[in-house]
Amino acid sequence: MARARRAVPLLLLLLLAVAQLGAPASAAVSPTAPPGGGGGGGGDDDPRCHPSPPRRGAVAVYPSDMAELQFLLNAKFVEAEWFLHAALGRGIDFLDRNLSAGGPPPAGARKASLDFHTTEVAAELGYQEVGHIRAITQSMGGFPRPAIDLSDGRFAAVMDDAMGVRLDPPFDPYASSVNFLLASYILPHITASAAVGISSTLMGYASKRLQASILAVEAGQDAVIRLLLYQRADELVAPYKGHTVAEFTRRISDWRNGLSRCGAKDEGVKVLDRHQGAERRTISNILGAGDDSLGFARTPAEVLRILYGSRNEQIPGGFLPRGGNGTIARGFFQLA
Ligand SMILES: *[C@@H]1O[C@H](CO)[C@@H](O)[C@H](O)[C@H]1NC(C)=O
Ligand SMILES: *[C@@H]1O[C@H](CO)[C@@H](O)[C@H](O)[C@H]1NC(C)=O
Repeated sequence: MARARRAVPLLLLLLLAVAQLGAPASAAVSPTAPPGGGGGGGGDDDPRCHPSPPRRGAVAVYPSDMAELQFLLNAKFVEAEWFLHAALGRGIDFLDRNLSAGGPPPAGARKASLDFHTTEVAAELGYQEVGHIRAITQSMGGFPRPAIDLSDGRFAAVMDDAMGVRLDPPFDPYASSVNFLLASYILPHITASAAVGISSTLMGYASKRLQASILAVEAGQDAVIRLLLYQRADELVAPYKGHTVAEFTRRISDWRNGLSRCGAKDEGVKVLDRHQGAERRTISNILGAGDDSLGFARTPAEVLRILYGSRNEQIPGGFLPRGGNGTIARGFFQLA
């Protein structure tokens, strides 16, 4: 039943692709003004409001595209539950029971103690993730929500690991707006770099469009969180003495680099060395990026090494205690 439901959108996309084959080429470029259109734009009928149609014979979605885009669901379920619970005290089951497809509710997630402005940001980002999960599952198929650990102990362990000290009292991601933002700093950067990472393997035009549309918003989420942290970069994170917000972000970025074992693809919001800034000239690093300010790319293995906290895509743990799902994440277990 579930399998049949998932197959339908793919079939539609393939049919659309086939329909394009039969469409007269002239339909693509209309020299005459569209009905009702002046300079103001004619809306849905106006071909100038739509991207050029795919080339003849172009395929909307390849089966391998489905696995790549479904892979993003692993991180997106974590993000959706994190942001929604922090903002509203409830997660995606409250919005749409179908999205989890029977997967277990997240462990340890709860409403965070946030100021109004941060609550608004968290809720918006959480709802965006719900939209992305729906968009991926409806067009590419999906899988049940994996087991997710969002307990304060999980975040405390991450922060201890990142800071290289045992923070006392343990870091509580739900305790304040700044703690929530630091905890949030961990997630969208991973998903954005994962979305960049799959771009070169996607082949279908509908797959590429979905990937780009998700990346546009995911990178924005990362930037929003990073800007909010940059505004407090020099503040000390209470009650810890001597550790600024900027230092936390640098350490978390280094932690992600270390776990993923593929070099430096991650930098804090305020860097110590201008060489890491834009055009090697800034110490603000609100949009972390590599040479020529191009976004960093991570492979699925790197993403899982971080989300599992194990440095190993074959050993689940961390935010996904029983591992990710879908062909790619499960495939690593078969290798184990
Ligand atoms: C959930 O799935 C059921 C059965 O397929 C459907 O009737 C219902 O409309 C869906 N709910 C939402 C919110 O999509
Ligand atoms: C992965 O998804 C399948 C269905 O696609 C489900 O049967 C299985 O229980 C899921 N595994 C985990 C670990 O969530």
